[in-house]
Amino acid sequence: MNAIKPLPDLLISQIAAGEVVERPASVLKELVENSLDAGAGQIDVELIEGGVRSIRVADDGGGIDKAELPLALARHATSKIASLVDLERVASYGFRGEALASIASVARLTLTSRSRDAAHAWRIDAADLSLTPAALGRGTVIEAGDLYFNTPARRKFLKQEATEYAHCDEALRRMALARPDVAFSLAHNRSVKHRLAASDLSSRVRELLGEEFFNQTRVVTANAGELRLTGFAALPAYSRPGRDAQYFFVNGRFVRDKLLSHAVRQAYADILHGNRHPAYVLFLELDPAGVDVNVHPAKIEVRFREARGVHQFVFHALQRLLAAPLEQLAAPPNPAASYLAEPGWQPRRQTSLAVSEQTPSAYYDFVSAANGPAASPAGVAQEAPSAEESDPAPLGYALAQLHGIFILAQNAAGLVLIDMHAAHERILYEKLKASLSDAPPTQALLIPALFSASETELATAGEYATALVRLGFEISPAGPRQLAVRAVPALLANAAIAELVRALLADLRDFPESQVIDARRNELLATMACHGAVRARRSLSIPEMNALLRQMEATERADQCNHGRPTWTQMTLADLDRLFLRGR
Ligand SMILES: Nc1ncnc2c1ncn2[C@@H]1O[C@H](COP(=O)(O)OP(=O)(O)OP(=O)(O)O)[C@@H](O)[C@H]1O
Ligand SMILES: [Mg+2]
Repeated sequence: MNAIKPLPDLLISQIAAGEVVERPASVLKELVENSLDAGAGQIDVELIEGGVRSIRVADDGGGIDKAELPLALARHATSKIASLVDLERVASYGFRGEALASIASVARLTLTSRSRDAAHAWRIDAADLSLTPAALGRGTVIEAGDLYFNTPARRKFLKQEATEYAHCDEALRRMALARPDVAFSLAHNRSVKHRLAASDLSSRVRELLGEEFFNQTRVVTANAGELRLTGFAALPAYSRPGRDAQYFFVNGRFVRDKLLSHAVRQAYADILHGNRHPAYVLFLELDPAGVDVNVHPAKIEVRFREARGVHQFVFHALQRLLAAPLEQLAAPPNPAASYLAEPGWQPRRQTSLAVSEQTPSAYYDFVSAANGPAASPAGVAQEAPSAEESDPAPLGYALAQLHGIFILAQNAAGLVLIDMHAAHERILYEKLKASLSDAPPTQALLIPALFSASETELATAGEYATALVRLGFEISPAGPRQLAVRAVPALLANAAIAELVRALLADLRDFPESQVIDARRNELLATMACHGAVRARRSLSIPEMNALLRQMEATERADQCNHGRPTWTQMTLADLDRLFLRGR
């Protein structure tokens, strides 16, 4: 063993740089954050070769006095905090006083700055701390070149130019979203990539995330005590295959926080398929004392003092927003409304177009609703409404079933197309959720459903027996490789039991710990609903179809199925006219 020796300063900074300066994009982030902290209104970024060759950030902020230039590059020197109390309520991006020192230890760095009342600017070279007079109107220009020129091992980890540029672009987007009031420009290899004028959040979001995102979002504004959540959350129709459009800011700082992303995921869980990702730009504001930003060297993680409260707040705010029911129906943009005024127009009653076979009653819940008198609280509106009354059946009345997949219905506006399985799945899901808030009504099976099970399925059934009971199942081994299902949730009495239970066991097995079952119960319910829902190709009678429509109207969120697909769509008479080039 060698003797213990203090590390040289440069090496200390290089070690720190390992955490803060992961790639060109991290340099860009630190420099732009400094500009924002300096009160800049315009920030111009120029990159060469993905930022590896050079990153130049120019701002019109307050600048640095000549006397303080060497300190700006020194380790642990900052103008932003002076005490622990300051740290606990820090509102600036920077506070560690080490970003410039770290960058200077792994790149060639020069800083040119002119403070407000200086006669001219000064330039400092980090290599030798030499100061020379320079020409600059105002603000600060920092150039970092040849990243990792002195640490070849790290340089090897840099990716292709295009990849590094993409990371830089993303870093700039984050900051530009956080500060729409600041103008930004970004150039790569001398060609301009972004030119963003100072504006408001809506315009900035539109510009950076595109019209399509903007048009498919709901505006978020929620308050609870000291907590405030604002921004934009995309409807499931705009879900993404990746996490590329997820921006969460805490007190203006972009963060990647497990707690927050979990809260968001939960809020979308009901309406988004597991392998789709929600898109959002959200801003959480709270008392700086309630959040610790000094958790991660790059400040990308935070810790909340009231973690649970924050989670609940974010979850509920988003869930409420996304759950707003059938909004198109509440205020129908109804281009065909004139038809209502035509004398003698009535939504047509049921026709006998559907070729329906007689179905065993009580096969599905809506079937019994259709067949038994007043069997369902949702009721079955069989009477066509008169034009004057407010429409009791916004989704209209069933005309026929198409290929055993879609229901065609007629309402005041025109034609409604319903995805039968998706709609029923949604209804079942909401019912399961409601029924499980207390003891789920279960139905014992007269003849237990037996199925051959794998070792893992047997083990999972044993391990999660209590959880399964809470979900309404009674499952026990019936032999060395067999499971018997003796009771199921009443709502699912007619599902294909073996398949349903297999899917459920697979879900359970994938959970790392039993504690998370509560948190992921809705996912389990979604699996159950999917298996319980009426399958494609099953023919429904007209009363059954109408009962399904009435239940959809009564069900929250019936316009999205559990997997984020829409459950129905409206084609207005005007839409149909257009299809046939029929002038009116
Ligand atoms: N663009 C700039 N305009 C004005 N002052 C700046 C600028 N960049 C850096 N400074 C000054 O240099 C100091 C050091 O910057 P540096 O980024 O190293 O540390 P910091 O921002 O204080 O903390 P952190 O390490 O958390 O970023 C800052 O505290 C600030 O006073
Ligand atoms: Mg800084």
